[in-house]
Amino acid sequence: MQKILVEGGYPLNGKVRVSGAKNSAVALLPAAILADSKVMIEGLPQISDVDTLSDLLEEIGGTVSWKGQTLHIDPSQMTSMPLPNGKVKKLRASYYFMGAMLGRFKQAVIGLPGGCHLGPRPIDQHIKGFEALGAKVTNEQGAIYLRADELRGARIYLDVVSVGATINIMLAAVKAKGKTIIENAAREPEIIDVATLLTSMGAKIKGAGTDVIRIEGVDTLTGCMHTIIPDRIEAGTYTILAAAQGEKVLIDNVIPQHLEPLLAKLREMGVSIEEGDEQLLIQPAKRLKSVDIKTLVHPGFPTDLQQPFTSLLTRAHGTGIVTDTIYQARFKHIDELRRMNAQIKVEGGSAIVSGPVQLEGAKVKASDLRAGAALIVAGLMADGVTEITGLEHIDRGYEQITEKLSNLGAKIWREEMSEEEIEQFQNS
Ligand code: EPU
Repeated sequence: MQKILVEGGYPLNGKVRVSGAKNSAVALLPAAILADSKVMIEGLPQISDVDTLSDLLEEIGGTVSWKGQTLHIDPSQMTSMPLPNGKVKKLRASYYFMGAMLGRFKQAVIGLPGGCHLGPRPIDQHIKGFEALGAKVTNEQGAIYLRADELRGARIYLDVVSVGATINIMLAAVKAKGKTIIENAAREPEIIDVATLLTSMGAKIKGAGTDVIRIEGVDTLTGCMHTIIPDRIEAGTYTILAAAQGEKVLIDNVIPQHLEPLLAKLREMGVSIEEGDEQLLIQPAKRLKSVDIKTLVHPGFPTDLQQPFTSLLTRAHGTGIVTDTIYQARFKHIDELRRMNAQIKVEGGSAIVSGPVQLEGAKVKASDLRAGAALIVAGLMADGVTEITGLEHIDRGYEQITEKLSNLGAKIWREEMSEEEIEQFQNS
């Protein structure tokens, strides 16, 4: 088991290339189940979530191999093998196996999803969608059983705008008989990316990226080649890092429109941002001014950037209020930031950050993926050395984070934990 060490205070300079989007990748891999021949996906991030999903595709009979940056998935020999336990529980996105296996085999057994603990994360809207399409869904000893004689298109109104439910219902509906309409659908770029892959496979989908998605079911889907979109959350994390500790940082392979809410807030704080077609040039503010943020469904401020943004606010002048309307309990990073001398109070669903303060290096623990990113931002700004444990979360979503940051001039490295440290970590 490893930990990350960061010696703060070194300025970041140079270029960083953003990887493929994790939250697309975790849906694109299961989507390949629906094809009857080889699906090739280019530019996937090499993160542990992609490895786990590749293993799951192999468990159900698929053949998966890397050729350079492209993952080749041959789904032709896959079967409707039940996946009640094991790797399926390692990540939340394994719930996309429900929609994809139901779509192809009319049945699936999937262990209830794991993933980051951000407070309650129900999947009732996914299940409502599957049932509307004609599936019988039961929960037996922590696994979801889905079975349908036939899937029929339906009109489905989501009570909550959900990325996962929107994608899962698309996966189940593309081969259903007749027309499906998803109303109050989520509009994230990752949904468009999955719809693009499915369309290349032969699916008929209109309206992905709007709140009404129309799907006309088809009988067969075939293999294709797809290039994944860049990761807007990884890009946003590096943009925040550049605003916190950069001199002149170029973020490459980014779609600037995907980051509008973050860029608007950073400009309000005084950060200089130049937008190119696929690049952002970030230069820090002489004096960072505090702002309030409220996370909302896309195209609002993304909840996944709320935690790293909170670290940046500790350096800003004034008081900033961070409100997360998507996950009201996504504040586990705050205690760790406090250990580093941050002045933050949590009241109700908001964190109130007072600044500026000089953060101090400390021993901290990443409780989830984006909390890990928040601690790295904090560590780079802090005086002295910060030790971050809980890397299994960070490695689920950030490709080569220590290498990318070292290339920008950060002092960051990994070390093996001693047995005593591992024991302390496990008991904490
Ligand atoms: N919700 C329900 N019922 C449902 C589904 C969702 O009440 O059936 C609620 C959730 O509890 C939450 C809100 O709806 O309050 C939005 O949840 P959503 O379903 O959109 O989230 P998700 O699909 O489970 C994805 C990302 C998350 C990201 C959220 C919000 C993936 C694999 N995960 O989760 O990413 O925070 O959308 O944008 O795409 C991360 O990358 O760190 C991460 C957690």
